Amino acid sequence: MLDKKAFKSEVVIESPGRINLIGEHIDYNGGYVLPAAIDKKITLHFRKNNSNSCEIYSSNFKNSFTISLNKLEKSEVEWHNFILGVLFHIDVIKPNSVKGFDCIIESDLPLGSGISSSAALECGIAKGINELFDIGLSDLEIIKLSRDAEHTFVGTKCGIMDQFAVVKGEKDHLILLNCETLDYDLIEADFNPYVIVLLNSNVSHNLASSAYNVRRDECKKALVAIQKKNPKYQFLTEVPAQIVEEFKVILPEKIYNRALYVTQENQRTLKAVKYLKKKDLYSFGQCLYQSHHGLQNLYEVSCKELDFLVEHTKDLDYVLGARMIGGGFGGCTINIVYKYKVESLIKNISAAYEEHFNIKLSAIHTTISHGVKNI
Ligand code: GLA
Repeated sequence: MLDKKAFKSEVVIESPGRINLIGEHIDYNGGYVLPAAIDKKITLHFRKNNSNSCEIYSSNFKNSFTISLNKLEKSEVEWHNFILGVLFHIDVIKPNSVKGFDCIIESDLPLGSGISSSAALECGIAKGINELFDIGLSDLEIIKLSRDAEHTFVGTKCGIMDQFAVVKGEKDHLILLNCETLDYDLIEADFNPYVIVLLNSNVSHNLASSAYNVRRDECKKALVAIQKKNPKYQFLTEVPAQIVEEFKVILPEKIYNRALYVTQENQRTLKAVKYLKKKDLYSFGQCLYQSHHGLQNLYEVSCKELDFLVEHTKDLDYVLGARMIGGGFGGCTINIVYKYKVESLIKNISAAYEEHFNIKLSAIHTTISHGVKNI
């Protein structure tokens, strides 16, 4: 077992979680998203060990495992796959560049809470190895290989948003990312006198990964049907809502709903950015509520606990907007809250939530911070 006290780190990496203000389930549909890296993070300590194997210790799971670099194959243990997948995909781009190393991982990112502990782990491992062995991977290579690791080793066919935000995040800025071209603008995250509060439902329904892949397939089905009549559209987010509406009688109801949500959410994201730039925070908050409504009713990736948390804030005039974030089926809601009322909100909603579900709620105070970094 690696001993933290005796461990002489050669490289230490901080790799953050991410939030997404709006543009949910849009990245794999080629549209706009608005994520940011946060101050909650994973810290990874690396040292070379001059062997052909790696020992990885997670202080959260309180156990370690050994990887043989000659045999990078999928594991039965989920968290091992994030690391194995990254090593595998680095080897695809830069064969034989990774040598033996030891790594200690510490985290203050809750798992399965929609703030992407997975991308933080993948990108943190990739960045650390890149620095330790001076491999010369670019940011974009780290982003893409981390995403590929999740596809091939973990099995979630995720988009690019999480890895992009984890690597490219900047303090106090949101990233307006075009997920098709990967062009992006940094937008000042100035919500004053409001702040961002995450409410962790502390539920994580196991549907998450399988249902995620099903949504991706459903979007593809909708796009293929629309393309038969409108071959010029390459992504669902490019199809205007009026055109999607023409397919109401043709497409199965669920597939139609998915497509309608996607086109609406993409437009809503661009509208929300305009409001933010004008400092019209009220309208920005309304966009968050509308986003949740679509995720709940059209895209069907919410759950009763998240719906309760969002609904509860609607009567509180000090909350401008709220919605679920991330893949869904549990995890956190994001809330834009008047800064002097944060404690009132937490007290009020925690009691109601616990009474209703008999589950404790946890509030996460977070600020927008830098992306993955060698410290
Ligand atoms: C997960 C995925 C992302 C994105 C979100 C939903 O976090 O990893 O790629 O699709 O869900 O917006």
